[in-house]
Amino acid sequence: MADAADVERAAVLGAGTMGHGIAQVCAQAGIDVVLYDVDDAALQRGLAGIKKSLEKAVEKGKARRDEAEAALRRVTVLKDLDAACRRADVVVEAVPEKLELKRKLFAEVERHVAPEAMLASNTSSLSIERLAEGLARPERFLGLHFFNPVPLMPLLEIVVGPRTGAGVVVAAAALGRRLGKEPIVVQDAPGFASSRLGLALGLEAIRMVEEGVASATDIDKAMELGYRHPMGPLKLTDLVGLDVRLGIAEYLHQTLGERFRPPELLRRMVGEGKLGKKSGQGFYEWTE
Ligand code: CAA
Repeated sequence: MADAADVERAAVLGAGTMGHGIAQVCAQAGIDVVLYDVDDAALQRGLAGIKKSLEKAVEKGKARRDEAEAALRRVTVLKDLDAACRRADVVVEAVPEKLELKRKLFAEVERHVAPEAMLASNTSSLSIERLAEGLARPERFLGLHFFNPVPLMPLLEIVVGPRTGAGVVVAAAALGRRLGKEPIVVQDAPGFASSRLGLALGLEAIRMVEEGVASATDIDKAMELGYRHPMGPLKLTDLVGLDVRLGIAEYLHQTLGERFRPPELLRRMVGEGKLGKKSGQGFYEWTE
């Protein structure tokens, strides 16, 4: 396994919110990164997202213009999985939360990558062991769970499967620090540490809206002002995506039981295309 300092090239699979955020922090840490997706439009949106965020970092005085420009030059977008992975020291997958989709992708990735490359999933809840089923070298596979917005959030949750090697955990923690993140190490339990706790609060807040306990704004204020959360659980659900949270809730409902049953309101909103910030409407209305 390459040492974090030796990581020169990364491949990030999936150009959505998380994927392009992960690609950005890699590029800012001096790593050449290929952002892969099957969809051209998603790749262009991902690249535009990186440009916009780097621009904001410059505006806010968090990065120098020349550094931001250099980071952008390190990002390549590609639709060819083989070319994306062939020279990568690390591959981070951030495609939708579907076990079969991720498994298929990793099976394909394993055919292209170098034998010593680290393989990681940004899954927010799926079992690392189940994702690793079918891998020829499961010891180099683990969860690297980033948080949205990736360039701003300091946490990296490292999820260790039963067959993950100790060396790869050490390398992942070092890589996380190089990306400016503080790593925590969590065992492969449903929802890990962050999603399990975050969902518990988010689902309860949705049930409270359903029951008319208070408005979304006031429920959020309760947590923002009463508990000093930077963002209330409903605004956060809009940021993460209602569809993403529903997917996690369904999985935790299956694995951890009734307390994670998705509220009807959440299902209805997702059915109506109210996915939060990315669709312009969730518990709040979002405009540019
Ligand atoms: N690049 C670099 N820095 C930036 C930046 C950018 N593009 N944009 C803003 N910043 C900096 C700002 O300069 C500011 O820095 P200082 O604190 O030093 O002044 C800081 O970031 C905060 O920026 P803003 O003042 O513009 O924004 P804010 O105060 O409203 O905070 C937020 C925004 C960080 C998103 C905050 O609202 C927050 O922490 N929200 C909660 C987010 C959260 O919980 N995410 C986790 C979601 S769950 C998840 O992701 C896991 C999953 O599996 C689904």
